[in-house]
Amino acid sequence: MATLKRPLTYGVKMLTLCLLLSLCLGTALGVPCCTGVCDCEAHVVTCESKSLSDVPMCSASEVNEFTEMRLTKNRIVNPTFSRIPDSIKTLDLSDNNITTITIDKVRNVMESLDLSGNGLTSVPILSKLPSLHNLDVTFNPIPSNLNGFPDAIFRQLGTNLTSLHVGHPETFTEFPRTISTHLPKLDTLEINGAHARFGNLPPTAFEAFELVLKKLYIRNTLLYAVPLTLRRLRNLKELYFESNPVQDYGLLPEAFSGLNSLELLSLKNDSLTTFPAIVNNLKDKLTTLILDENRLLFIRENALNMVNGSNIENLYLRDCQLDRIPGAMADDSGNYLQKIKVLDLSKNKIQSIDRNDLHDLHSLQNVSFSENPLAYVSTLAFKNLGNLSFVDFSNTSIKVIPMALTNVARHGLDIDLRNTDVECICELACFQKYYKSRNFRVHGDCETVSVKLTDYLEMTIPHCPNFNGTVFPSCTANV
Ligand SMILES: *[C@@H]1O[C@H](CO)[C@@H](O)[C@H](O)[C@H]1NC(C)=O
Ligand SMILES: *[C@@H]1O[C@H](CO)[C@@H](O)[C@H](O)[C@H]1NC(C)=O
Ligand SMILES: *[C@@H]1O[C@H](CO)[C@@H](O)[C@H](O)[C@H]1NC(C)=O
Ligand SMILES: *[C@@H]1O[C@H](CO)[C@@H](O)[C@H](O)[C@H]1NC(C)=O
Ligand SMILES: *[C@@H]1O[C@H](CO)[C@@H](O)[C@H](O)[C@H]1NC(C)=O
Ligand SMILES: *[C@@H]1O[C@H](CO)[C@@H](O)[C@H](O)[C@H]1NC(C)=O
Ligand SMILES: *[C@@H]1O[C@H](CO)[C@@H](O)[C@H](O)[C@H]1NC(C)=O
Ligand SMILES: *[C@@H]1O[C@H](CO)[C@@H](O)[C@H](O)[C@H]1NC(C)=O
Repeated sequence: MATLKRPLTYGVKMLTLCLLLSLCLGTALGVPCCTGVCDCEAHVVTCESKSLSDVPMCSASEVNEFTEMRLTKNRIVNPTFSRIPDSIKTLDLSDNNITTITIDKVRNVMESLDLSGNGLTSVPILSKLPSLHNLDVTFNPIPSNLNGFPDAIFRQLGTNLTSLHVGHPETFTEFPRTISTHLPKLDTLEINGAHARFGNLPPTAFEAFELVLKKLYIRNTLLYAVPLTLRRLRNLKELYFESNPVQDYGLLPEAFSGLNSLELLSLKNDSLTTFPAIVNNLKDKLTTLILDENRLLFIRENALNMVNGSNIENLYLRDCQLDRIPGAMADDSGNYLQKIKVLDLSKNKIQSIDRNDLHDLHSLQNVSFSENPLAYVSTLAFKNLGNLSFVDFSNTSIKVIPMALTNVARHGLDIDLRNTDVECICELACFQKYYKSRNFRVHGDCETVSVKLTDYLEMTIPHCPNFNGTVFPSCTANV
């Protein structure tokens, strides 16, 4: 019966899916506009990757009240600004070949201009954009001296600019003085890419905006240490210090000592080998810590003393070459990571989850083991995780549905078992009884039969010879 029914329902489902898809795609593509080279949709004019050598001509009626224009990935050298509709607030000219830019007239509405990935050798004159809030000039060969960052331009920009993105792997050799002295309203600064000569930041680097700055990104530099001047950023909320190979000794505790407002810290891909001790300084406010792509190997038990009593809610340890779950992640004293809600251990080398792993983390909601060579889960793991609602075992080497999941008392637990080789066998009868009574949601397919795990649990298991004899919740066989 079931095998006969399947292709039919499948066919109908596919048909419905195709209909839905074509409908969705039809609307997502929008209406062709601007001599047919762009798409106009939901206030956005999109002309991406069209080999354009200039801004296309749009008729006023087509783009009336459109607020965003995307011209990224073309071959524009000198954009004809008069062709940009007057209503555009956000203009993306990134990844072109722009060497000069001349703005035709005062444009009071324009707020955001992306010029990254072009051939500019100086920050252009932008005095005709009085409302500009966001400027991106990363990956332009702009020298970091007064020729590239002229004083007059920055004095004028300073009045309204809140977000600035700079950096280039060859020409960015020092922090431009004009940034330090102007820009009193800057709340977001990104330095992305710098020459090896860019080895530190002067103490005065953030002078003009040090109490205003909320987000700082420093990426892809060869800085040998976290600049000490960071400690002056007392209102900084998010620090993304990423892909700077500073290593453990480059994380100077003094640099972090004044960051009293920091809520998010990312030290992704910084060549770290141990859990950073500086976190201790940031105990109170810090809720998100991202340590992805460091070679942590394993986290020594005492390293997690750093987070004893911390308020960390989100801990990302993706791709850190961990070979086991840090033992100190759960502790009987109940002081570690008691606020943790999201724990991401994906892309590591964890092969087993042992009896004492991950218990008593009362706030934990989401945990991911995706892309680990995980093959064994002790039935005694996952105790006292009263808030756990999502477990990701996708892309692991798991072959049986871990019975440890039945230690999770919460109803509606979501279990991702996609891309695993879970065997669908009658021994799942016991798990099935928990699945039913706790409303588990299971995603994935059986390894043995090409059937969804849920279908197997709901339709096949009840016909297993051991099913009626399996006693819930003890799961002993009643013969
Ligand atoms: C960009 O323009 C320069 C000259 O202005 C030219 O030499 C170069 O080939 C152009 N690059 C691309 C990708 O078109
Ligand atoms: C700053 O922007 C506002 C609009 O957001 C504008 O009215 C004002 O003139 C700008 N200030 C300067 C000094 O350009
Ligand atoms: C990680 O940082 C190194 C420099 O230390 C860089 O070469 C590499 O591209 C970065 N990796 C990623 C994925 O960003
Ligand atoms: C963690 O902190 C608590 C008090 O905040 C303390 O009693 C306990 O000894 C600490 N644990 C470790 C291993 O340092
Ligand atoms: C938990 O994971 C699920 C599935 O990936 C996601 O939808 C949800 O937003 C996550 N919750 C948190 C708090 O990260
Ligand atoms: C769920 O988490 C909240 C706070 O994060 C906590 O107060 C509560 O006790 C937890 N519930 C259970 C059942 O552990
Ligand atoms: C998970 O495994 C599937 C099948 O092997 C693969 O196609 C997919 O890319 C994997 N996902 C990740 C995130 O590696
Ligand atoms: C289990 O019991 C039900 C009702 O008592 C019965 O209908 C069903 O056939 C039994 N299933 C098996 C596999 O013995």
